[in-house]
Amino acid sequence: MTLLELDNVSFRYPDGSVGLNDCSLAIERGSRNALIGANGSGKTTLFQHCNGLLRPQSGVVRYAGAAFDYSRGGLRQLRSRVGLVFQNPDHQLFSASVQEDVSFGPINLGFDEATVRRRVSEALQAVGMAECADKAVHNLSFGQKKRVCIAGVLAMQPELLVLDEPMAGLDYKMRTEFLTVLDGLHAQGITLLLATHDIDFAYRWADRIHLMAAGQCTASLDATDLAEKGDALSALGLPLPTVIELHRRLQAQGLLPHGCVPRTHGELLVLLETNTYVKEAACR
Ligand SMILES: Nc1ncnc2c1ncn2[C@@H]1O[C@H](COP(=O)(O)OP(=O)(O)OP(=O)(O)O)[C@@H](O)[C@H]1O
Ligand SMILES: [Mg+2]
Repeated sequence: MTLLELDNVSFRYPDGSVGLNDCSLAIERGSRNALIGANGSGKTTLFQHCNGLLRPQSGVVRYAGAAFDYSRGGLRQLRSRVGLVFQNPDHQLFSASVQEDVSFGPINLGFDEATVRRRVSEALQAVGMAECADKAVHNLSFGQKKRVCIAGVLAMQPELLVLDEPMAGLDYKMRTEFLTVLDGLHAQGITLLLATHDIDFAYRWADRIHLMAAGQCTASLDATDLAEKGDALSALGLPLPTVIELHRRLQAQGLLPHGCVPRTHGELLVLLETNTYVKEAACR
């Protein structure tokens, strides 16, 4: 079932810049989606259409089949369902303390004090920031700010979580932990849409990969089809994921049999360790 749908959406900024140009995109309930596109291709603009921050100048955005209702009440309900984590945490955080910031969403949704407290504590726990609850937001590191932004949206318990380049600026440990957080959310049935410049990560993680160029979604692909759809990537000047490229070269060298393309380096290593071609080559 389609949860979120942009149907021929166009949007120009007041200075005339094209944000979206006849852009269509569908996000299926329960799926993991990566949006890939060059700087300025319209990813952030698209995301701001997903929770009604921006409104299409032509075209329609639908949630669960119904066109967005841009009234005050309609937007309030929409934002309890669609959580948006901004690209720049400084654009999202505005309260003095971590706890206050994360409380803002659930308070705004009208929950009682005990529910707010529980949601805030669970959300901070989920992003590993429980110990920083009383810390001043402006004293946090960039990566910590990003985590607090994610907690702020988690505390609203959205059905669809939209994250604008969540990995950018996070160190290896934080990225790994963040992936665990995302996996946990996906396991709970939350639909995920994120923007990334990392094609290797997108291939490993996403069910669907959407390509953006010049304000349009030029292709939506199943990640498992990516190996055969290299043209769509090269049209945007993007390389194939490294693991696909390596797998191809190893096959071409006769070191791996033809078969399923691995999704991760770990899977490729297992193929190499377990297949007889490599062992025979090593003995030669
Ligand atoms: N507030 C704004 N006013 C005018 N033009 C804007 C504004 N925000 C974005 N744009 C323009 O709209 C286009 C799409 O920008 P957008 O920020 O959506 O791209 P993006 O894909 O998110 O890029 P990045 O990878 O750099 O984050 C660009 O040409 C950009 O210059
Ligand atoms: Mg952006």
